[in-house]
Amino acid sequence: MQPAVPVVETISAIRSWSRAARARGVSVGLVPTMGALHEGHLSLIRRAAAECAEVIVSVFVNPMQFNDARDLAAYPRSLDADVPTAASAGATAIFAPSEGEMYSFGAPLTRVEVSRLTDGLCGAARPGHFAGMATVVTKLLAACEPDRAYFGEKDYQQLVVVTRMVDDLNLAVRIVPCPTVREPDGLAMSSRNARLSPAEREQAPLISRALRSAEAAFRAGERDAAELVRLAREVLAGATLGAMDYVELVDARDLTPVTRVGRDALLAVAVRFPSARLIDNVVLRV
Ligand code: PAJ
Repeated sequence: MQPAVPVVETISAIRSWSRAARARGVSVGLVPTMGALHEGHLSLIRRAAAECAEVIVSVFVNPMQFNDARDLAAYPRSLDADVPTAASAGATAIFAPSEGEMYSFGAPLTRVEVSRLTDGLCGAARPGHFAGMATVVTKLLAACEPDRAYFGEKDYQQLVVVTRMVDDLNLAVRIVPCPTVREPDGLAMSSRNARLSPAEREQAPLISRALRSAEAAFRAGERDAAELVRLAREVLAGATLGAMDYVELVDARDLTPVTRVGRDALLAVAVRFPSARLIDNVVLRV
């Protein structure tokens, strides 16, 4: 038997639920998701359940962060399956608002824009994406009032942007980073993986293999960014069905480009397959 968890659809109801928990003196964790839950999401929920007495999993496909209407239309939605899955990983409430509930006046007049950190990597390829993401995360934090919120390193730029936003705006929440969960062949788990054709799926593990190849060179002493990027690109060239959006080495904290690795650096990759755009990264720790 799965534990029964409430599926809460309104902002006022989830806020009351969260405040009631905190009035009892227990901590509340939030795991924001767009649903179609997989093991990556579940690892965040399990971590939240280990650290917080109550865990809200939000499921909301946020139109504001999609810069491509086809990507939004193709995004998988499976709330009925997600509820018991989240519950079995430790969720104690699901927050699943409608679009009208989250954006009652339509497109919001207020947007949260985090500058500089969103200029490069996915920010360059997906105009408006990070403002849409930061705005909805702010709204989810305001609705759920959690003590802690859990984010995956799989979306590293998102994690950096949210962490900075929380600091910039004095939001009363601690952002907890969680490691990337992978398929046995190395492919980072993603809701978009299901859209890959069999041939694309076969090539997709080259993304993590490219990162591992550069990481191995880094471990062996290579510090030159151009060489590390070249090594990754060499492996990625085998993904003939995909187009490289970017392969970049940036500072892991402020995401500025680096030429030599002197501090922790992020090697980040985005590959655009015809069926889905995939991202992955590795932190090269000095
Ligand atoms: P979504 O893509 O559903 O991801 C929800 C959370 O799960 C994010 O923090 C993401 O980094 C994490 N995640 C996804 N795949 C993962 C993996 N393989 N390993 C570890 N963590 C993984 O990211 C979003 O939704 C949205 O932008 C959101 C933050 C919910 C705002 O709309």
